[in-house]
Amino acid sequence: MSIKIAPSILAADFANLQRDIEMINQSEAHWFHIDIMDGVFVPNISFGMPVLQAITKHAKKPIDVHVMIIDPDRYIKIFAELGANILSVHYEACTHLHRTLQAIKAEGMQAGVAINPHTNVSLLEDTINNIDLVCLMSVNPGFGGQSFIENTYKKIKQLKEIIHRNGAYTKIEIDGGVTDKNASQLVAAGADVLVAGNFIFKAENPLVTIQELNTQINS
Ligand code: DX5
Ligand code: ZN
Repeated sequence: MSIKIAPSILAADFANLQRDIEMINQSEAHWFHIDIMDGVFVPNISFGMPVLQAITKHAKKPIDVHVMIIDPDRYIKIFAELGANILSVHYEACTHLHRTLQAIKAEGMQAGVAINPHTNVSLLEDTINNIDLVCLMSVNPGFGGQSFIENTYKKIKQLKEIIHRNGAYTKIEIDGGVTDKNASQLVAAGADVLVAGNFIFKAENPLVTIQELNTQINS
């Protein structure tokens, strides 16, 4: 299976959002990664439903929504209606994670769980067969442009082991500080999806940057 690239729209130019969405449509990237923050679970507010709706209207690739919000259950239905294909909630924000995962699937979306850098992957052992995607945070969530936490490699390997042990099909997504410098090592450790914000959107030529990253991780 090919490794997927999911550009994080948080790093796009919001005054030229349609232009940046079209760029991703034209590119070799595979998904749109959309970060929604509530200013409570994380110390930042990104954007909400109207912007998500505007994005999904133009986006022609799967929509991977990463919600950094408390009590995400309240909005599962709305995210599905707005066009999310994958919805990742935070382990740390869910009191009844198993129920939340069922609710996401009941709305026809793939169920993802994001975990903070301090959260041990072993906590997912009992739900792994219900999780389509684990979003391993390789920075503390809240902001783009932070530096990659090296401990992530170890977590990927541990998570891969849990997935194999349980015969699960869960994909591993890495989110935060991903660049061409760590991409190959992440894939070698077992990553299936790489989220990249600043590395792509602050590049001189984002299209070429995506193309080169794709060649690097898929050859
Ligand atoms: C951080 C977000 C990330 C972020 C990644 O809270 O979840 O998706 O946008 O941005 P970079 O790649 O710039 O670290
Ligand atoms: Zn994210």
